[in-house]
Amino acid sequence: MGDELQIHKGLDGVYIAESTICKVDGAVGRLYYRGYSIGEIAENSTYEEVAYLLIHGRLPKAAELEEFSKRLKAERDLPAEVVRIIQQSAGKSDPMDILRTAVSYLSISDNEVKDQSYESNIRKSIRLISKISSIVAATGRIADGGVYVKPDSALSHSENFVYMLKGRKPTKEEIKPVEMMFMLQAEHSTNASTFAALVAGSTLADLYSAVTSGIAALKGPLHGGADEEALRMMYAIGDPSNTEQYINEALAGKKKIMGFGHRVYKAYDPRAKIIKEYLLTLQNSSSEEVRRLTEIALRGEKLMIDKLGASHGIWPNVDFFAGPVYISAGIKIDLFTPMFAASRIAGWCAHVLEYWEDNKLIRPLELYKGQIDLKYVPIDKR
Ligand SMILES: CC(C)(COP(=O)(O)OP(=O)(O)OC[C@H]1O[C@@H](n2cnc3c(N)ncnc32)[C@H](O)[C@@H]1OP(=O)(O)O)[C@@H](O)C(=O)NCCC(=O)NCCS
Repeated sequence: MGDELQIHKGLDGVYIAESTICKVDGAVGRLYYRGYSIGEIAENSTYEEVAYLLIHGRLPKAAELEEFSKRLKAERDLPAEVVRIIQQSAGKSDPMDILRTAVSYLSISDNEVKDQSYESNIRKSIRLISKISSIVAATGRIADGGVYVKPDSALSHSENFVYMLKGRKPTKEEIKPVEMMFMLQAEHSTNASTFAALVAGSTLADLYSAVTSGIAALKGPLHGGADEEALRMMYAIGDPSNTEQYINEALAGKKKIMGFGHRVYKAYDPRAKIIKEYLLTLQNSSSEEVRRLTEIALRGEKLMIDKLGASHGIWPNVDFFAGPVYISAGIKIDLFTPMFAASRIAGWCAHVLEYWEDNKLIRPLELYKGQIDLKYVPIDKR
């Protein structure tokens, strides 16, 4: 082995493809979907439009958006077998396990699974974007003792999500944070789950296989699961006055504080800024619980930035302020990561479709450090 061989642990700093979908400028904390800054997107767009933008590469004209929304609406309902899977497991199993299983099962009821034409993969993308939201909403509702609510085609994507989750017409206060989080989490370049989807996709496995791989990778607390862990920490802190002691002790014990740090951002994550600003607008209208969580989050943010911000490049990420925002919309903690998946599905599909335009099997190397040429020993002689 030559001296030039370098191992990039965690593929840190490795480029695997060219892409026009998303730019994460980690040094200055900027994020762009197809060239539009995340601030522009969050202020002006809708989840349907973001999904169109990511998949088709440009903002839709009015008629195109209407047609796209119509196609999304037509795909919302779930096959009876998938509803049964949810009914059997909601409230007993992790909603991410239910989602991964349900999405995998969806492929069985899709007769164009093997059709790898671009048009078919667009149809499957639309199907997945719609149905994953329905699966997540149904899982939350059934876990709460409710029954499966059929989608309502008079409602937008986010409105329908809340409707299927709560079984009643959603309020503005419930829709706004869901729409915001769906837009903010829709895409983030070659993060772990998108990469997992690309690895499966690069073998020319079908889109369902790629997306199932993405869901599996999203589950972990170092990726999509961090928003749940951050909120659990806030609950463990309990009272705002305990924040400093709790975090100082955690850091002294070499524990990571969930919702901080990022492989690419070495500045404030722009999505966290948007979520924090929204949270601050709730101060006068929210419940005592949300106000308390917000106070803990703000104290934790200040302490972490003072200690590790500029000095170590560890800043709040998208997951830190998400918990209190979801709680303000009446969404329970174990639905956070599945909702992340319901949003990120647009990015996963956009990336896999883009990668397939110039596919190359993803197959990295590892440096073998074991022995060779061992003599085989029969089992009774070992
Ligand atoms: C996201 C994450 C995995 C990226 O990390 P990475 O690029 O792999 O870097 P590492 O985990 O090796 O961290 C580098 C150093 O920063 C420290 N660090 C990173 N994130 C930290 C955090 N959230 N709290 C405290 N210390 C942290 C590590 O302990 C490590 O310190 P060391 O060099 O003294 O060992 C990491 O920041 C993390 O685990 N964050 C918490 C989970 C989270 O919020 N994930 C969601 C990301 S959107």
